[in-house]
Amino acid sequence: MPETHSNPLDDPAANPFEVAAIAAADIARLSGVEHHDIALTLGSGWGKAADLLGETVASIPATEVTGFSKPALEGHVGTLRSIRTPGGRHVLVIGARTHYYEGHGVRRVVHSVRTAAATGAKIMVLTNGAGGIQETWSPGQPVLISDHINLTADSPLEGATFIDLTDLYSKRLRDVARTVDASLDEGVYTQFRGPHYETPAEVQMAKRIGGDIVGMSTALEAIAAREAGMEILGFSLITNLAAGIQQTPLSHTEVIEAGREAEPVISALLARVVEAL
Ligand code: HPA
Repeated sequence: MPETHSNPLDDPAANPFEVAAIAAADIARLSGVEHHDIALTLGSGWGKAADLLGETVASIPATEVTGFSKPALEGHVGTLRSIRTPGGRHVLVIGARTHYYEGHGVRRVVHSVRTAAATGAKIMVLTNGAGGIQETWSPGQPVLISDHINLTADSPLEGATFIDLTDLYSKRLRDVARTVDASLDEGVYTQFRGPHYETPAEVQMAKRIGGDIVGMSTALEAIAAREAGMEILGFSLITNLAAGIQQTPLSHTEVIEAGREAEPVISALLARVVEAL
């Protein structure tokens, strides 16, 4: 009897790009929008941006799209939205991130990015909530991602797939973001596996090897987006200073609260940046 998988990506014989193409066809059928121009993954604190981007053409529960997983966390909305901007572009908003720490494998982590590419999106905007290593930063501050260090020891690429990661987080798109807010600082995002926060010693290590931001997403997604030929813009909301940089212990509640407080301001910023892309 053939083995059955509730998620086709869990079948090692499945081709993840074919699964992404089926997911893109699901989105086209459920939204009536054949082609998207830009895709946007909304991390903690960035959720309201979807409401400000334009008219919501369709809102699709992620569970109705092939290969997507149920959100692991409350507050991580499992919805895909198709939005038409005032400029007439179609934006696919992904409110259903699968994190590496959930343990479902990297194929599921990057499925939303591959699906976005299969819908036609040429620009991938990745946002997250993260810890700040730079002492001059404060909780609630958005920063651009200039580059990353992937400490997961994993890759979404399979086989001998040699992909260049120079200018992974497009300088051109960061410049566009700065036409909207010239004060935006930038930094190197360091992806840890999580779900535990880092120890102060790990934060010091990240700092010494060139990291400015610590988080648990984005780097693996950015690699998959580059493989798919998309141009990438990355934004971190600094929800807290990283462990040991801030003197108080970290808590998920604090991270969510900082995201909630910053949400109106950073969502408006993000909506304006997307309109300028
Ligand atoms: N570390 C890792 N991930 C995070 C943090 C952090 O300090 N804050 C929010 N997400």
